[in-house]
Amino acid sequence: MSISAHDERQTFKGRRILVGVTGGIAAYKSAELVRMLQKAGADVHVCMTEAATKFITPLTLETLSGNPVRQNIWDLRGDSSIAHTEWGRDMDAVIVAPATADFLGRLANGLADQLLLNVLLASRMPVLLCPSMNDLMWANPLVQQNVERLAELDRFRVLSPGVGWLACGVVGAGRMPDPADIVDAVARQLRDNDLEGQRVLVTAGPTREHFDPVRFLSNPSTGRMGFALAYAAWERGAEVTLIAGPTSVPAPTHVETRHIGTTEELLRAVSEELPRCNLLLMAAAPVDFRPEVSHEHKQKKGSGMSAVALQPNPDVLKAVAELEHSAFVVGFAAETQEFERNAVQKVRRKQMDLIFVNRVGAQAASTGFSSTTNAGAIIDSDGRLIRQVELGPKVAVAHTLLDEAIRRMNR
Ligand code: CTP
Repeated sequence: MSISAHDERQTFKGRRILVGVTGGIAAYKSAELVRMLQKAGADVHVCMTEAATKFITPLTLETLSGNPVRQNIWDLRGDSSIAHTEWGRDMDAVIVAPATADFLGRLANGLADQLLLNVLLASRMPVLLCPSMNDLMWANPLVQQNVERLAELDRFRVLSPGVGWLACGVVGAGRMPDPADIVDAVARQLRDNDLEGQRVLVTAGPTREHFDPVRFLSNPSTGRMGFALAYAAWERGAEVTLIAGPTSVPAPTHVETRHIGTTEELLRAVSEELPRCNLLLMAAAPVDFRPEVSHEHKQKKGSGMSAVALQPNPDVLKAVAELEHSAFVVGFAAETQEFERNAVQKVRRKQMDLIFVNRVGAQAASTGFSSTTNAGAIIDSDGRLIRQVELGPKVAVAHTLLDEAIRRMNR
């Protein structure tokens, strides 16, 4: 699952997106794609080829997009005599999903015998092509040559088809990517990629310290804030590595994820990844203590165990401060009281460049551990309050925090 499936973002507000649908069985997924874009705030317009209308009706896409579906060059005659080249020019982006072998071949050769081809040839907007077809067709060198030819041009991005169960009854490469992944890819295309060429390391979620195989010390962190940060950094063009503790919330699909269990494992993973990173976003909630003894077998009720002796865990950020690295370090503080005072102490003690502090606990349902929203304050390394961040979806909060981090990294 991608972030778009469970979180709101601002990227599509006020954007005009053209969805081109060509004639393949995956056209049924275009309905979900149009709905998702519309829900994300985009003004969605649809152009179908005649073959696409054999798989899904224009009425379905018209209802979901809230705009008339265009199909035919000759239908546009009433709008203006040159509507076939003008319509669609003011779109912010185009997605062709599914893009059939036939359509890719025509586009790669500059043909214009359909409205969608006319619109693409007579414009400059970025185009995301989502090929979908039979696996042998996709592997065919003729199709691959056409795809390579298109991908060489800056304007066209090709989202390679996934491997899976195909409508022709075989498992292979040819599946149209999930609509949520297509939406994310367009979001990345539309965003100012101010983290392009940067490597970002994000930690997320809790750690677990077992005292027997079925019992452990932990905290209610879900990883949502860290996942939102990883997604937001990816959307801004970064190469992202995510180190995630155990949680039932799915991590974003586009970033490389390393799974860890304990705080010591988290420290090892961060120490390995950090030297090649430019930015560390330390959103994990590591457990500060671990049991002195971790029993090999489950402890029985009658075993007489009445207390668990604890020993301190390493502090990952403090250890990072001793490492040789040049990354900009952003830490987090989740507090139940003395909010800014605690954050100022932490930013200094752990030598962070920036800290984001938010409220947790019974009085803070909208900013707490399992919430999909957050709000708080950003404080710099001198303990100065940079800005208050209003309540919003975690992805929006993540972007605000990245704005501040990037501004300081570029100084
Ligand atoms: N952190 C860390 N290693 C730990 C504990 C926390 O690197 N063992 C990091 C967190 O990822 C976060 C920051 O330090 O970015 C502050 O975490 P927090 O739990 O609020 O701070 P603690 O130092 O554990 O202080 P306390 O629990 O006393 O509030």
